[in-house]
Amino acid sequence: MKALITGGVGFIGAQLARALLDRGVLSGVTGEEEAIDELVLFDSVEGPGLSEEKAGGIVVRRVVGDVSDQETVRGLLDRDDLSVFHLAAVPSTLAAEMDFDLAMRVNLDGSRHLFEGLRARAGLQRLVFLSSIAVFGGTRMPRYVGDLVKQTPQSTYGITKAILELLINDYTRKGFLDGRSARLPNVIIRPEKMKLQSSGFINGLFREPLNGEDFELPVPLDTVTHVLGCRAIVQNLIRLHEVDGGRLGEDRAVGFPCHSVTFQEMIDALQAARGDRRLGKITVNPDPILTKAYQMGPRDCETARANELGLQKEANLEEIVHDYIDDYLEGER
Ligand SMILES: NC(=O)c1ccc[n+]([C@@H]2O[C@H](COP(=O)([O-])OP(=O)(O)OC[C@H]3O[C@@H](n4cnc5c(N)ncnc54)[C@H](O)[C@@H]3O)[C@@H](O)[C@H]2O)c1
Repeated sequence: MKALITGGVGFIGAQLARALLDRGVLSGVTGEEEAIDELVLFDSVEGPGLSEEKAGGIVVRRVVGDVSDQETVRGLLDRDDLSVFHLAAVPSTLAAEMDFDLAMRVNLDGSRHLFEGLRARAGLQRLVFLSSIAVFGGTRMPRYVGDLVKQTPQSTYGITKAILELLINDYTRKGFLDGRSARLPNVIIRPEKMKLQSSGFINGLFREPLNGEDFELPVPLDTVTHVLGCRAIVQNLIRLHEVDGGRLGEDRAVGFPCHSVTFQEMIDALQAARGDRRLGKITVNPDPILTKAYQMGPRDCETARANELGLQKEANLEEIVHDYIDDYLEGER
């Protein structure tokens, strides 16, 4: 079978690609496990390495293009024995606020091209779509969010994710595809700085001190946010793909497990996991707008359904820091 990752050379996409190559199999359209013989990493930017290579019997192809171009997307869906992980997006609240039209075109039109392309193929291909906790928001949002809480996103980014969750429910109900939406918290720890990411400082809090650089935290230490390490995200995306559709029922969107923690707890984990490394100095200088935005966010996430489906989180934040050190600072990547 063929596995397609849109946004395949980004932060999560690159790790997911490695995990799929390691795994080598996925449940196909019949529900039976099938060997992956082709992995396509589709992205608007070039990734590292060759455009085509073979890894353990799997042909890996990197295809550069725009998900909002319908013909390009159709060209990617050239087999019926296909599974799709859909990550390509204007991937942050700030970026989507800066360019409404781009967010509509890439997030909404691009996704619809993908859904329609799958609909035109024979069989029910599995589709895992990456949604976000940004589907929640607003002054009437409860302190605890979960799969039964009404979505009132307060950003264009969150709106596009909420719309796509609903569309996936309907495309699945109509028997056009077999969709699953993964509602992610903040995914940490991104190895490089990213422009236009309002939550980028959560990654910077770990990354910069570990690189020996000083870091200024723009929110108070007792601010709460919700995180999960990239390794756990990737394994959960695969688990969600593998879940029998019947267990998901009519609502195909699943809030991922996460650690709801304060920034002080994140700093404590960083200190505990740093080993012999000299950390850069962390100072706190709250930005009033960012602080207010985070104070209005959810306090905690209810994830019983994710737990029942076998989705998991790390034992603690220290594990995430150790994974990052292994993956990016001391490992081969
Ligand atoms: N990282 C997080 O904290 C987080 C949290 C919640 C949801 N998500 C979602 O997960 C997905 C992946 O996020 P990420 O952190 O890996 O982001 P990323 O920016 O590293 O990866 C997204 C990829 O999509 C590509 N892309 C953007 N526009 C495209 C287009 N028009 N056509 C084709 N490719 C395009 C980018 O080049 C990039 O490589 C996104 O959909 C994002 O909204 C991420």
